[in-house]
Amino acid sequence: MNKLQLVQSLAYIDGQWTTAQSGAMMDVINPTNGAIITSVPDMAAEDAEAAVLAADKALVTWRKTTAKQRAVLLRTWFNLIVENAAELAKLLTSEQGKPYKEAYGEVMYGASFVEWFAEEAKRTYGDNIPAPMPGNRYMTIKQPVGVVTAITPWNFPVAMITRKVAPALAAGCTVIVKPGEDTPLCALAMAKLAEQAGIPKGVINVVTTKQPAAVGEVLCTHPLVRKVSFTGSTAVGKHILKQAAGTVKKVSMELGGNAPFIVFDDADIDKAVQGALVSKYRNAGQTCVCTNRLYLHDAIYDEFMAKFTTAVSELRLGCGLENGTEIGPLINKKAIDKVSSIVQHALTQGAELHLGGHVASIGELYYQPTILTNVTEELDIAQQELFGPVATVFLFTDEADVIARANNTPYGLAAYFYSRDNSRIWRVGEALEYGIVGVNEGIISTEVAPFGGIKESGNGREGSKYGIEDYLEIKYLCLGIDV
Ligand code: SIN
Repeated sequence: MNKLQLVQSLAYIDGQWTTAQSGAMMDVINPTNGAIITSVPDMAAEDAEAAVLAADKALVTWRKTTAKQRAVLLRTWFNLIVENAAELAKLLTSEQGKPYKEAYGEVMYGASFVEWFAEEAKRTYGDNIPAPMPGNRYMTIKQPVGVVTAITPWNFPVAMITRKVAPALAAGCTVIVKPGEDTPLCALAMAKLAEQAGIPKGVINVVTTKQPAAVGEVLCTHPLVRKVSFTGSTAVGKHILKQAAGTVKKVSMELGGNAPFIVFDDADIDKAVQGALVSKYRNAGQTCVCTNRLYLHDAIYDEFMAKFTTAVSELRLGCGLENGTEIGPLINKKAIDKVSSIVQHALTQGAELHLGGHVASIGELYYQPTILTNVTEELDIAQQELFGPVATVFLFTDEADVIARANNTPYGLAAYFYSRDNSRIWRVGEALEYGIVGVNEGIISTEVAPFGGIKESGNGREGSKYGIEDYLEIKYLCLGIDV
């Protein structure tokens, strides 16, 4: 399959490549240069309704397939994604902007969820429960939840789809994907490969739209939809939770974060600098688990800052398809305006500009890798998810104090800390109120471990042996027998 076949200009409902019922189209823009890559259907409520009906129809037979049949199809899809990884990565860079190397990494990361859940499909065991009555036998079986809505973000347009769709399909559910408005092409390319893998019609449906509210309302309130899985902002997550409550749907929410990154005085500074660099600046800082707040111990502040500043100032901005590019553009004008205004406001509140701090000269969506120092919890920036290449630096001297400050946020997705003291590693690891903690590691994402947050960062876990559970219901069978 070549590149041209992977770029789709139609949406995918009930196994058909289709226009919106209204005929409306929307442009997909390359954030690197503002060029229109292609146009796709701008679907509305009636198209979302059609997708729900298609998924419900497909569920009747899909839920009855064996785990092995589903595993084989998922494995075939995985193989096709890997075979087309280079083309998918180019497409991803074109519509999202991240450097090709990161895009390729994301495609392989995305593929890993399909492989993992192809395997997990066969392991959705139930229980045999010892009954207290002689004439009873008790057991549990696990069954698919049903039709699933997967609302996925623009920052990981491949991996956030597979992290939801693969476990859903493995469990025997059918899915409607609503990809981010800025990045529908990867979703359609993934559907094309799924079609080629032989995944039956209606099992995966992709509704492209720039009317997220109207389409989302159908997908999150329709009585035939039994589960909503959402990755995106906490504000939108709260709205979806209210919508889903009307028909008591199962929900998985991967919401915002405000990750602290703590460097203790006993840390390996070089490692900590590298960890901070990748966890802060990958994807131009547009990741839910990106470091937001750097807490540096007073004793290592100067050494860390000298090395960190050098490393950040060497980061190369550019077009994601050019060799050597390390930071691409932000996704759109709204994103760059938001980052610019958060930085400006922090400066008026007393933060100091240590590096960067402006839109870069190479293009209107590029923001300079930025470091702000003299930041304290009193500044608004300390409580905001930045979603841009901006590091904010805080000072500390005391372990208990820094833990309290790190936890002082409604968010609880990811946290990081660097230390070489074993007791401290356990103490701090257990005290941080986060779903994911990186200890001497800046990259924590993998298909084999549970990804998810606590507090206002959401609920449910994706990936790992737990990820499929979110798409299964437990049924208890109570058997009366003659003994
Ligand atoms: C996210 O930003 O939501 C996903 C990040 C990851 O999986 O590493």
